[in-house]
Amino acid sequence: MPLRIGQEIQALPRQDRLTLGAALAAARARLVAAGVEDAAADARALMKDALGLPDRAPPLDETRALAQSEREAFALRVERRARRVPVSRIRGRRAFWRRDLAIGAATLDPRPDTETVVEAVLDRLVGRRRAPLRLLDLGAGTGAIAIALLDELPAATAILVDRSEAAARIARGNLAACGMSGRAAVMVGDWARALAGRFDVVVSNPPYIASAAIAALDPEVRDHDPRLALDGGADGLDAYRAIFAGLPRSMGADAFAVVELGAGQAEDVSAIARASGLEVAGVRRDLAGTERALVLRSGSVGCRDAGFAG
Ligand SMILES: C[S@@+](CC[C@H](N)C(=O)[O-])C[C@H]1O[C@@H](n2cnc3c(N)ncnc32)[C@H](O)[C@@H]1O
Repeated sequence: MPLRIGQEIQALPRQDRLTLGAALAAARARLVAAGVEDAAADARALMKDALGLPDRAPPLDETRALAQSEREAFALRVERRARRVPVSRIRGRRAFWRRDLAIGAATLDPRPDTETVVEAVLDRLVGRRRAPLRLLDLGAGTGAIAIALLDELPAATAILVDRSEAAARIARGNLAACGMSGRAAVMVGDWARALAGRFDVVVSNPPYIASAAIAALDPEVRDHDPRLALDGGADGLDAYRAIFAGLPRSMGADAFAVVELGAGQAEDVSAIARASGLEVAGVRRDLAGTERALVLRSGSVGCRDAGFAG
Protein backbone atom coordinates (compact mmCIF):
# COMPACT_ATOMS: atom_id res chain seq x y z
CA MET A 1 0.00 0.00 0.00
CA PRO A 2 1.72 3.27 -1.07
CA LEU A 3 2.02 6.02 1.45
CA ARG A 4 -0.64 8.64 1.02
CA ILE A 5 1.08 11.87 0.14
CA GLY A 6 -0.91 13.61 2.85
CA GLN A 7 0.57 11.28 5.47
CA GLU A 8 4.00 11.34 3.89
CA ILE A 9 4.24 15.10 3.76
CA GLN A 10 2.36 15.87 6.95
CA ALA A 11 4.41 13.27 8.84
CA LEU A 12 7.58 15.24 8.32
CA PRO A 13 8.46 17.37 11.34
CA ARG A 14 7.67 21.02 10.72
CA GLN A 15 11.31 22.01 10.84
CA ASP A 16 12.25 19.47 8.15
CA ARG A 17 12.99 21.13 4.85
CA LEU A 18 10.79 19.74 2.09
CA THR A 19 11.68 20.98 -1.37
CA LEU A 20 9.19 21.34 -4.22
CA GLY A 21 11.15 18.67 -6.06
CA ALA A 22 10.77 16.13 -3.23
CA ALA A 23 7.07 16.93 -2.79
CA LEU A 24 6.49 16.58 -6.54
CA ALA A 25 8.26 13.20 -6.58
CA ALA A 26 6.08 11.95 -3.71
CA ALA A 27 2.96 13.25 -5.47
CA ARG A 28 3.91 11.58 -8.75
CA ALA A 29 4.30 8.23 -6.99
CA ARG A 30 0.95 8.63 -5.26
CA LEU A 31 -0.84 9.54 -8.50
CA VAL A 32 0.77 6.74 -10.51
CA ALA A 33 -0.36 4.27 -7.83
CA ALA A 34 -3.89 5.68 -8.15
CA GLY A 35 -3.87 5.04 -11.92
CA VAL A 36 -3.62 8.70 -12.99
CA GLU A 37 -2.27 8.91 -16.52
CA ASP A 38 -0.36 12.21 -16.58
CA ALA A 39 0.89 11.99 -13.01
CA ALA A 40 3.93 14.27 -13.46
CA ALA A 41 2.04 17.03 -15.30
CA ASP A 42 -0.86 16.85 -12.87
CA ALA A 43 1.46 17.06 -9.86
CA ARG A 44 3.06 20.21 -11.30
CA ALA A 45 -0.32 21.79 -12.04
CA LEU A 46 -1.52 21.05 -8.50
CA MET A 47 1.68 22.49 -7.05
CA LYS A 48 1.13 25.73 -8.97
CA ASP A 49 -2.42 25.88 -7.68
CA ALA A 50 -1.34 25.19 -4.10
CA LEU A 51 1.19 28.02 -4.39
CA GLY A 52 -1.45 30.38 -5.81
CA LEU A 53 0.29 30.54 -9.21
CA PRO A 54 -1.58 30.57 -12.53
CA ASP A 55 -1.60 27.43 -14.64
CA ARG A 56 0.61 29.05 -17.26
CA ALA A 57 3.22 30.26 -14.76
CA PRO A 58 6.84 29.52 -15.74
CA PRO A 59 8.47 26.26 -14.56
CA LEU A 60 8.83 25.85 -10.80
CA ASP A 61 12.10 26.18 -8.89
CA GLU A 62 12.27 22.68 -7.47
CA THR A 63 15.01 23.53 -4.96
CA ARG A 64 12.74 25.96 -3.10
CA ALA A 65 11.47 24.78 0.29
CA LEU A 66 7.73 24.55 0.96
CA ALA A 67 6.14 26.32 3.92
CA GLN A 68 3.90 24.20 6.14
CA SER A 69 0.73 25.79 4.78
CA GLU A 70 1.94 25.10 1.23
CA ARG A 71 2.65 21.45 2.09
CA GLU A 72 -0.86 21.07 3.42
CA ALA A 73 -2.49 22.79 0.48
CA PHE A 74 -0.54 20.60 -1.93
CA ALA A 75 -1.21 17.37 -0.05
CA LEU A 76 -4.95 18.05 -0.03
CA ARG A 77 -5.01 18.63 -3.76
CA VAL A 78 -2.99 15.51 -4.52
CA GLU A 79 -5.33 13.38 -2.43
CA ARG A 80 -8.35 14.69 -4.36
CA ARG A 81 -6.59 13.97 -7.65
CA ALA A 82 -5.75 10.43 -6.42
CA ARG A 83 -9.52 9.99 -5.98
CA ARG A 84 -9.78 10.87 -9.69
CA VAL A 85 -11.11 14.39 -9.36
CA PRO A 86 -9.78 16.20 -12.48
CA VAL A 87 -7.15 18.90 -11.97
CA SER A 88 -9.48 21.48 -13.51
CA ARG A 89 -12.25 20.63 -11.01
CA ILE A 90 -9.77 20.96 -8.15
CA ARG A 91 -8.61 24.33 -9.49
CA GLY A 92 -12.16 25.38 -10.43
CA ARG A 93 -10.68 26.72 -13.63
CA ARG A 94 -9.57 25.57 -17.08
CA ALA A 95 -7.26 27.29 -19.53
CA PHE A 96 -8.93 27.62 -22.95
CA TRP A 97 -7.53 29.57 -25.89
CA ARG A 98 -6.27 32.83 -24.32
CA ARG A 99 -8.20 32.68 -21.05
CA ASP A 100 -8.32 30.84 -17.74
CA LEU A 101 -12.06 30.23 -17.36
CA ALA A 102 -14.12 29.42 -14.28
CA ILE A 103 -15.87 26.06 -14.47
CA GLY A 104 -18.60 24.62 -12.23
CA ALA A 105 -20.55 21.46 -11.49
CA ALA A 106 -23.09 22.39 -14.20
CA THR A 107 -20.55 23.06 -16.94
CA LEU A 108 -18.51 20.79 -19.13
CA ASP A 109 -14.80 21.10 -18.43
CA PRO A 110 -13.77 22.64 -21.78
CA ARG A 111 -11.30 20.45 -23.66
CA PRO A 112 -8.33 21.42 -25.85
CA ASP A 113 -10.00 19.53 -28.76
CA THR A 114 -12.72 22.17 -28.79
CA GLU A 115 -10.15 24.77 -29.84
CA THR A 116 -10.42 23.06 -33.25
CA VAL A 117 -13.90 24.63 -33.55
CA VAL A 118 -12.41 28.08 -32.87
CA GLU A 119 -9.66 27.50 -35.45
CA ALA A 120 -12.17 26.35 -38.07
CA VAL A 121 -14.20 29.54 -37.58
CA LEU A 122 -11.17 31.83 -37.74
CA ASP A 123 -9.88 30.12 -40.87
CA ARG A 124 -13.07 31.05 -42.69
CA LEU A 125 -12.99 34.67 -41.56
CA VAL A 126 -9.69 35.75 -43.07
CA GLY A 127 -10.20 39.36 -44.18
CA ARG A 128 -13.45 39.67 -42.15
CA ARG A 129 -12.12 39.52 -38.59
CA ARG A 130 -12.79 43.21 -37.90
CA ALA A 131 -16.37 43.04 -39.23
CA PRO A 132 -19.35 43.43 -36.83
CA LEU A 133 -20.16 39.73 -36.97
CA ARG A 134 -23.06 38.21 -35.07
CA LEU A 135 -22.21 34.95 -33.36
CA LEU A 136 -24.48 32.29 -31.87
CA ASP A 137 -23.08 29.64 -29.49
CA LEU A 138 -25.52 26.79 -28.87
CA GLY A 139 -24.86 24.83 -25.66
CA ALA A 140 -22.37 27.40 -24.44
CA GLY A 141 -21.40 25.85 -21.06
CA THR A 142 -18.63 28.06 -19.63
CA GLY A 143 -18.82 30.20 -22.77
CA ALA A 144 -15.41 28.91 -23.86
CA ILE A 145 -15.99 28.95 -27.63
CA ALA A 146 -17.78 32.31 -27.74
CA ILE A 147 -15.20 33.94 -25.47
CA ALA A 148 -12.33 32.69 -27.62
CA LEU A 149 -14.07 34.06 -30.72
CA LEU A 150 -14.88 37.42 -29.10
CA ASP A 151 -11.19 37.66 -28.21
CA GLU A 152 -10.20 37.19 -31.86
CA LEU A 153 -13.05 39.14 -33.48
CA PRO A 154 -12.97 42.60 -31.85
CA ALA A 155 -16.16 43.98 -33.43
CA ALA A 156 -18.24 40.80 -33.02
CA THR A 157 -21.18 40.30 -30.65
CA ALA A 158 -22.55 37.00 -29.44
CA ILE A 159 -25.63 35.27 -28.12
CA LEU A 160 -24.88 32.26 -25.96
CA VAL A 161 -27.59 29.69 -25.24
CA ASP A 162 -27.67 26.90 -22.69
CA ARG A 163 -30.48 24.91 -21.16
CA SER A 164 -28.76 24.92 -17.78
CA GLU A 165 -29.39 28.04 -15.68
CA ALA A 166 -26.35 27.22 -13.53
CA ALA A 167 -24.11 26.92 -16.60
CA ALA A 168 -25.47 30.23 -17.91
CA ARG A 169 -24.47 31.90 -14.62
CA ILE A 170 -20.91 30.61 -15.01
CA ALA A 171 -20.80 31.81 -18.63
CA ARG A 172 -21.99 35.29 -17.57
CA GLY A 173 -19.29 35.38 -14.89
CA ASN A 174 -16.62 34.40 -17.41
CA LEU A 175 -17.81 37.03 -19.89
CA ALA A 176 -17.72 39.67 -17.16
CA ALA A 177 -14.24 38.61 -16.03
CA CYS A 178 -13.07 38.93 -19.65
CA GLY A 179 -14.63 42.40 -19.98
CA MET A 180 -17.07 41.08 -22.61
CA SER A 181 -20.47 41.54 -20.95
CA GLY A 182 -21.28 44.45 -23.24
CA ARG A 183 -20.73 42.34 -26.34
CA ALA A 184 -22.63 39.21 -25.36
CA ALA A 185 -25.91 37.97 -23.90
CA VAL A 186 -26.44 34.59 -22.30
CA MET A 187 -29.91 33.08 -22.67
CA VAL A 188 -31.31 30.07 -20.87
CA GLY A 189 -33.35 27.85 -23.12
CA ASP A 190 -33.47 24.99 -25.55
CA TRP A 191 -31.43 25.42 -28.72
CA ALA A 192 -34.39 24.33 -30.81
CA ARG A 193 -36.18 27.51 -29.64
CA ALA A 194 -33.15 29.76 -29.87
CA LEU A 195 -32.46 29.47 -33.53
CA ALA A 196 -34.65 32.16 -35.09
CA GLY A 197 -32.48 35.07 -36.16
CA ARG A 198 -29.85 35.96 -38.67
CA PHE A 199 -26.35 35.14 -37.50
CA ASP A 200 -23.07 35.21 -39.38
CA VAL A 201 -21.48 32.37 -37.46
CA VAL A 202 -23.15 29.61 -35.46
CA VAL A 203 -21.01 27.35 -33.28
CA SER A 204 -21.90 24.38 -31.14
CA ASN A 205 -20.17 21.68 -29.18
CA PRO A 206 -23.24 19.57 -28.43
CA PRO A 207 -23.40 16.47 -26.21
CA TYR A 208 -22.36 13.59 -28.48
CA ILE A 209 -21.71 10.51 -26.33
CA ALA A 210 -24.10 7.60 -26.85
CA SER A 211 -26.09 7.13 -23.61
CA ALA A 212 -24.95 3.53 -23.13
CA ALA A 213 -21.27 4.50 -23.48
CA ILE A 214 -21.29 6.98 -20.60
CA ALA A 215 -20.86 4.35 -17.87
CA ALA A 216 -17.58 3.21 -19.45
CA LEU A 217 -16.00 6.68 -19.61
CA ASP A 218 -13.03 7.58 -17.41
CA PRO A 219 -14.14 8.54 -13.88
CA GLU A 220 -12.84 12.07 -14.48
CA VAL A 221 -15.49 12.50 -17.19
CA ARG A 222 -18.29 10.19 -16.03
CA ASP A 223 -18.34 11.42 -12.44
CA HIS A 224 -17.59 15.11 -12.96
CA ASP A 225 -18.92 16.39 -16.30
CA PRO A 226 -22.70 16.96 -16.15
CA ARG A 227 -24.85 14.38 -17.90
CA LEU A 228 -26.62 17.15 -19.84
CA ALA A 229 -23.28 18.04 -21.41
CA LEU A 230 -22.39 14.47 -22.39
CA ASP A 231 -25.51 12.51 -23.28
CA GLY A 232 -26.30 12.55 -27.00
CA GLY A 233 -29.07 9.92 -26.83
CA ALA A 234 -29.11 6.33 -28.08
CA ASP A 235 -26.67 6.86 -30.96
CA GLY A 236 -25.03 10.06 -29.66
CA LEU A 237 -26.53 12.13 -32.48
CA ASP A 238 -29.78 13.49 -31.01
CA ALA A 239 -28.43 17.01 -30.47
CA TYR A 240 -27.27 17.29 -34.10
CA ARG A 241 -30.74 16.34 -35.32
CA ALA A 242 -32.38 18.93 -33.08
CA ILE A 243 -29.93 21.73 -33.89
CA PHE A 244 -29.74 21.14 -37.64
CA ALA A 245 -33.50 21.05 -38.02
CA GLY A 246 -33.64 24.78 -37.27
CA LEU A 247 -30.18 25.90 -38.33
CA PRO A 248 -30.97 27.10 -41.88
CA ARG A 249 -33.42 29.65 -40.39
CA SER A 250 -30.67 31.31 -38.40
CA MET A 251 -27.99 31.63 -41.07
CA GLY A 252 -27.66 34.55 -43.48
CA ALA A 253 -26.30 34.37 -47.04
CA ASP A 254 -22.60 34.36 -46.09
CA ALA A 255 -23.18 32.58 -42.83
CA PHE A 256 -21.63 29.33 -41.78
CA ALA A 257 -21.79 27.00 -38.80
CA VAL A 258 -19.12 24.90 -37.12
CA VAL A 259 -20.06 21.99 -34.89
CA GLU A 260 -17.77 19.79 -32.87
CA LEU A 261 -17.79 16.06 -33.63
CA GLY A 262 -17.14 12.98 -31.53
CA ALA A 263 -14.53 10.60 -32.93
CA GLY A 264 -15.89 8.72 -35.95
CA GLN A 265 -19.06 10.80 -36.25
CA ALA A 266 -18.17 12.93 -39.31
CA GLU A 267 -20.04 10.80 -41.83
CA ASP A 268 -23.22 10.37 -39.80
CA VAL A 269 -23.36 14.03 -38.77
CA SER A 270 -22.76 15.10 -42.39
CA ALA A 271 -25.71 12.94 -43.49
CA ILE A 272 -27.96 14.55 -40.86
CA ALA A 273 -26.80 18.00 -41.98
CA ARG A 274 -27.56 17.30 -45.66
CA ALA A 275 -30.96 15.88 -44.79
CA SER A 276 -31.65 19.19 -43.00
CA GLY A 277 -30.86 21.24 -46.11
CA LEU A 278 -27.31 22.20 -45.08
CA GLU A 279 -24.21 21.98 -47.22
CA VAL A 280 -21.08 20.38 -45.76
CA ALA A 281 -18.23 22.80 -46.51
CA GLY A 282 -15.38 21.02 -44.74
CA VAL A 283 -14.06 18.92 -41.90
CA ARG A 284 -11.20 19.97 -39.64
CA ARG A 285 -9.01 17.57 -37.71
CA ASP A 286 -7.70 18.13 -34.19
CA LEU A 287 -4.04 17.82 -33.17
CA ALA A 288 -4.43 14.04 -32.80
CA GLY A 289 -5.67 13.78 -36.40
CA THR A 290 -9.27 13.04 -35.43
CA GLU A 291 -12.03 14.66 -37.51
CA ARG A 292 -13.24 17.11 -34.88
CA ALA A 293 -15.14 20.00 -36.47
CA LEU A 294 -17.68 20.07 -39.29
CA VAL A 295 -18.18 23.29 -41.26
CA LEU A 296 -21.68 23.84 -42.66
CA ARG A 297 -23.27 26.37 -44.96
CA SER A 298 -26.86 27.09 -45.76
CA GLY A 299 -28.21 27.77 -49.24
CA SER A 300 -31.50 29.23 -48.07
CA VAL A 301 -31.54 32.44 -46.06
CA GLY A 302 -33.60 33.40 -43.03
CA CYS A 303 -33.77 37.16 -42.38
CA ARG A 304 -35.44 37.68 -39.03
CA ASP A 305 -33.88 39.67 -36.23
CA ALA A 306 -31.81 37.70 -33.74
CA GLY A 307 -33.68 36.46 -30.70
CA PHE A 308 -35.71 33.61 -29.33
CA ALA A 309 -38.52 32.19 -31.40
CA GLY A 310 -41.84 32.44 -29.61
C1 LIG B 1 -20.61 19.37 -24.59
S1 LIG B 1 -21.19 20.74 -23.62
C2 LIG B 1 -20.34 22.08 -24.42
C3 LIG B 1 -20.05 23.25 -23.53
C4 LIG B 1 -19.14 24.32 -24.15
N1 LIG B 1 -19.66 24.81 -25.40
C5 LIG B 1 -17.75 23.75 -24.38
O1 LIG B 1 -17.40 23.46 -25.52
O2 LIG B 1 -17.02 23.60 -23.40
C6 LIG B 1 -22.87 20.87 -24.23
C7 LIG B 1 -23.69 21.96 -23.58
O3 LIG B 1 -24.99 21.92 -24.15
C8 LIG B 1 -25.95 22.19 -23.14
N2 LIG B 1 -27.23 21.61 -23.59
C9 LIG B 1 -27.62 20.30 -23.58
N3 LIG B 1 -28.83 20.16 -24.13
C10 LIG B 1 -29.25 21.41 -24.50
C11 LIG B 1 -30.43 21.91 -25.14
N4 LIG B 1 -31.42 21.11 -25.50
N5 LIG B 1 -30.51 23.24 -25.38
C12 LIG B 1 -29.50 24.07 -25.01
N6 LIG B 1 -28.35 23.63 -24.41
C13 LIG B 1 -28.23 22.33 -24.16
C14 LIG B 1 -25.37 21.57 -21.89
O4 LIG B 1 -25.93 22.13 -20.72
C15 LIG B 1 -23.88 21.85 -22.07
O5 LIG B 1 -23.52 23.07 -21.46
